[in-house]
Amino acid sequence: MRFLVIGGAGYIGSHFIREAKRQGHSSVVYDNLERGFRESIPSDVPFIKADLLDSKTLEETIKDGHFDAIYHFAAFALVGESVSQPELYYENNVEGVRVLLEAMRKLKTKSNAVLIFSSSCAVFGTPSKLPISEEDPKKPQSPYGKSKLIDEWMIEDYCYAHGMRGMALRYFNACGADKDGGIGEAHDPETHLIPNVIKAALAKETVTIFGDDFETLDGTCVRDYIHVTDLADAHIKAAAYLCAQKGAIYDAIHLGTGNGYSNLQVVKVIEKVLGMMIEQRIGARRAGDPAGLYADNRKAKKILGFTTRYSDLETIIATALAWHQEAPEGYNRG
Ligand code: UFG
Repeated sequence: MRFLVIGGAGYIGSHFIREAKRQGHSSVVYDNLERGFRESIPSDVPFIKADLLDSKTLEETIKDGHFDAIYHFAAFALVGESVSQPELYYENNVEGVRVLLEAMRKLKTKSNAVLIFSSSCAVFGTPSKLPISEEDPKKPQSPYGKSKLIDEWMIEDYCYAHGMRGMALRYFNACGADKDGGIGEAHDPETHLIPNVIKAALAKETVTIFGDDFETLDGTCVRDYIHVTDLADAHIKAAAYLCAQKGAIYDAIHLGTGNGYSNLQVVKVIEKVLGMMIEQRIGARRAGDPAGLYADNRKAKKILGFTTRYSDLETIIATALAWHQEAPEGYNRG
């Protein structure tokens, strides 16, 4: 298959390109490099430096691209930033998807590509039950989560109104790095647990765990960690599934392992992989953190044939650690 990868210079998009290539598919990357890295795109992958809101360039790209699938990995994804600057999220995440849907609608006779959209378990806010199933009530608590839910609604409406085929994949906690090296998690600022603990451990600094008074097994938050290459593989399966469908179709599917690990359990596994103790302190709760989030992934298994190859926590940590040890300063150490 041939893919247009919008946001292909970012963390998940760049891992997707590599896995797609290993599986024999080709990609064209479309990215404005605002938060992504040129170095993350392999030199033999065609790259268009353009903004998603630039509808003219986007339409030209789609019109003659002969794409089987278009992937949207181009969202901003910092929950705290979305609270302080919601305008960024409604412009980039919501308006960006609207522009993309409009381009796909207008070009329907020229391009029959399916749309695969990166959504998030953040659409649920504090979940009504665990594990979280696709149809559970959605009450996003941040502009980030709201922007993803609005996007899902727009995609569903466009699909059924205009005979398009789309899917929202709701990620739980994406983590880890490509097994072949060269790329890894690259956020600035880095807010995620695994890279923060690894960085602190390597620098012999103290890690802060945000809260130990949640209603969980040890009082710290529980999350569902899924290796980014397993996510990538599920995205390829999603394209194959949608391309085989005739007529309008839309669905939302959860991508998680179904296993929850507490923050303290994650730190313990990092200590084991590193072979050293990590200094840690308990800080205040971080605003907006739900106690537990883990996926009911039965739908992903049934519809996509979802499986995981890299998502045991030790493999996740080992690949993330290898990346942190090799990444050049500035490119990504958070
Ligand atoms: N944490 C710490 N110390 C740190 C960093 C994180 O204790 O230095 C804790 C957090 O408070 C949380 C857990 O580690 O309890 C996981 O935090 P992450 O920031 O790694 O991930 P989140 O679960 O907050 O974020 C994920 C996705 C987001 C999504 C969010 C929905 O990465 O895109 O779930 O709640 F919006």
